[in-house]
Amino acid sequence: MFKHILYCCVLIIACHSENKPDHFGFGRAATQQEIAAVPAAIPPDGTGLPPGQGTVSEGSVCYAAKCASCHGNTGTEGPFNVLVAPDTANAIPFDQTVFRVKAIGNYWPYATTVFDYIRRAMPFNAPGSLTDQEVYSITAWLLYRNQLINENFVINAHTLPTVVMPARSKYVVSDN
Ligand code: HEC
Repeated sequence: MFKHILYCCVLIIACHSENKPDHFGFGRAATQQEIAAVPAAIPPDGTGLPPGQGTVSEGSVCYAAKCASCHGNTGTEGPFNVLVAPDTANAIPFDQTVFRVKAIGNYWPYATTVFDYIRRAMPFNAPGSLTDQEVYSITAWLLYRNQLINENFVINAHTLPTVVMPARSKYVVSDN
């Protein structure tokens, strides 16, 4: 027991020592190729959006295959996050967020974030597995379901940043 306590003390002292090793003997530096494979964040003006495009009808097929199992057939049923709210194109005043269902149409300030988030993080069980065209198409379908674009609107690098998000005016830019 005493030995055990002594060992812990030595470990704690060692951990707080100024003489930390340069490296711990595991891991390696990421290669340029690996860094390049991680997509850059897409800002509100769409800088960095890839070539290609997507339509609502393609998106509907892709969403049904890759997203509906977790978000519901129409984006409203769950079991996971609701993507389309009942009053989806009416921005939520921030003092009412606890009373209303939050979703892309009534809460997200930038359309470009829909593309960015889906490309990086979804499907939850296979992030990064979608092609850019699939992400564009699913983005189109979700914006359509959120009543932000009409059925024939084509989403690409030029059109996506022009989609007006109702909640945009609820946010301020912070430099903190
Ligand atoms: C295996 C289940 C699963 C699948 C499949 C899945 N998602 Fe998700 N999704 C989640 C979970 C869980 C979260 C919440 C993640 C978090 O909060 O970190 C989420 C969150 C989201 C959000 C953010 C919602 C918000 O407003 O908070 C979006 C948008 C989204 N998913 C889109 C998609 C799309 C598009 C697809 C298909 C390409 C997809 N998801 C497939 C489980 C899933």
